[in-house]
Amino acid sequence: MATYQEIFEHNRKWVAARTAEDPDFFEKLAKDQEPDYLYIGCSDSRVPANEIMGLEPGDVFVHRNVGNLVLNTDLNAQTVIDYAVNYLHVKHVIVCGHYNCGAVRAAMVPQDMGLLNPWLRNIRDVYRMHYDELQAIADETTRYQRLVELNVQEQCFNVIKTATVQKSYLDNNYPIVHGWVFDLHRGYLVDLNIDFEAVLKEVQKLYDLHS
Ligand code: CO
Repeated sequence: MATYQEIFEHNRKWVAARTAEDPDFFEKLAKDQEPDYLYIGCSDSRVPANEIMGLEPGDVFVHRNVGNLVLNTDLNAQTVIDYAVNYLHVKHVIVCGHYNCGAVRAAMVPQDMGLLNPWLRNIRDVYRMHYDELQAIADETTRYQRLVELNVQEQCFNVIKTATVQKSYLDNNYPIVHGWVFDLHRGYLVDLNIDFEAVLKEVQKLYDLHS
């Protein structure tokens, strides 16, 4: 673990290495951002967005919170989506959860978590929506992993429920919304292969906001 002072040493070394590779690196970086991806993930320190995707500064617009939730009353998440879609014109929106997620684990335990209660309730709601499927899984770890996946799926639906995404997709054919899970044990990203067109059609039965 690095000490506080070491972070600044690391930073200076990083600047030196980047500049050695490309003397104009920071000049280019300062010009503008044109990321193709919006990544919405968990705040968990073990899931660094750029690093697991092998992407450089400038490549991905990032929003992280506890449990990678996309709530319609969360002005922060909604602002990020609006800005990324309408101003940065991202081509892909990714919701990325991860196995061993403390937020999902906490939501599976019947316990008063104080201030976290209203936030975690959204994950408990995902459990309730998929109660029969989850209760049918005898092994607790498997059930926990499945809830991680279902939470990602529901948050993808929440992204697709926004007028911003629906309007942009109908006008421009982007962004496409994807659901991923980062497998902490092995380091791999798992694509849940959410059928964006099918989900959009399903969502628009009740949440059609494009006109
Ligand atoms: Co997490």
